[in-house]
Amino acid sequence: MKRISITNRGPLRGELICPPDKSISHRAIILSSLAEGTSIVRNFLRAEDPLCTLEAFRLMGIEIEVKSQKSEVRGQNNEIVVNGKGLKGLRKPGKVIDCGNSGTTMRILSGVLAGQPFASVLTGDSSLRSRPMQRVITPLSQMGARIESEKGGYPPLRITGAALRPIRYESPVASAQVKSAVLLAGLYCSGRTTVIEPGKSRDHTERMLAAVGADITVKGLEVSVQGGRGLRPMDMTVPGDLSSAAFFIVAGLIVPGSELVIRNVGTNPTRSGLLDILVRMGAEIALENERDVSGEPVADIRVRHSSLTGIDVAEDLVLRAIDEFPILCVAAAKASGTTRITGAGELRVKESDRISSMAQELRKMAVPVEELEHGLVIEGQQDLTPAVISSYGDHRVAMSMAVAGLTEPGETIIEDTDCVNTSFPGFMKMVENLSAEK
Ligand code: S3P
Repeated sequence: MKRISITNRGPLRGELICPPDKSISHRAIILSSLAEGTSIVRNFLRAEDPLCTLEAFRLMGIEIEVKSQKSEVRGQNNEIVVNGKGLKGLRKPGKVIDCGNSGTTMRILSGVLAGQPFASVLTGDSSLRSRPMQRVITPLSQMGARIESEKGGYPPLRITGAALRPIRYESPVASAQVKSAVLLAGLYCSGRTTVIEPGKSRDHTERMLAAVGADITVKGLEVSVQGGRGLRPMDMTVPGDLSSAAFFIVAGLIVPGSELVIRNVGTNPTRSGLLDILVRMGAEIALENERDVSGEPVADIRVRHSSLTGIDVAEDLVLRAIDEFPILCVAAAKASGTTRITGAGELRVKESDRISSMAQELRKMAVPVEELEHGLVIEGQQDLTPAVISSYGDHRVAMSMAVAGLTEPGETIIEDTDCVNTSFPGFMKMVENLSAEK
């Protein structure tokens, strides 16, 4: 298990290219595999999580070629070519599908597998095997699939596909994974399948389904899709991932003297809550060169070191910043005053219990933190105390605490950092390059 050593090496300055979006990379594999014909996806995220989705479709008989190019300007650009075989073109996988650490792979794939004329089994690593799957089992069972799980709705999942019937599903959780699973299962129904969410989760599936010719409508929190219609192949470029840019956005804000430009960042409004929160905390953030990339809003983001002030962050903003909670906690730890985050109960069932992980690790750095059932109260500090930090095997905890370590002259050690490869394989190299560029 790798560990990393972090220390402040002065201001962070320069430019970096944001790694490709993880959510969109998963969906690109899934939808292009189900389309009829050859799709090209540029700037695919070649990290462990989307590669689990890619391997799953290869196991089901889809040919997928990965071409890598390295360019001085664009960094690593991985292009994939997918020979989609249509909605009915998958074959029974010859073995258990291993979803690794990826909740997105397991939950969204369940929706596709629910409509297949074969049985399949999905498993994952110990973190994924302790994450709740009942949220997809319930609607997919209502549609007619048979899904067996461990007691309480935990993986492995054994999914026996069926001829599905459309449903109108009021989801108790605002979750893009649940919404996407039901919508993809809806492609296999005759009739219209509808999902109603309690809050708006990320909408990449809706945008991408529309782009490949599905009959999909969105009215506020209600999304519906007509089944039985084939999908067209895609020719697209994946934008950068705001959830990966977030570590450098916050690093640029809290490491004194820094100024960073992060290029090609997706700014989809269902994902951009962190930017709104940080601006309310007093951050100097500018969106430059705003444009559209394959149906998603994209910008270059410039950040300058800023003095942040603690604020109250409630559920609506948390949902639009759901994966940014760990790095937001680090921003709060360096802000003056108190930050109170509420309505964040979903964070307890992410790759780790992120409320507890961040509370414990920030306390090690001498930050007073009160753990609430659905949130945290953080008292910001001028100086953090370097410490030996556990990642809990959670990529976003590891990278967030590394950013905390970057603010202080003493050495902070982050243990168990292999998990960073699930979403951001080049993270440490980027940190080193920026410190060296001054
Ligand atoms: C994701 C949805 C979110 C997010 C996860 C990726 C997706 O999960 O936290 O990292 O790609 O659909 P939920 O659907 O559980 O909110």
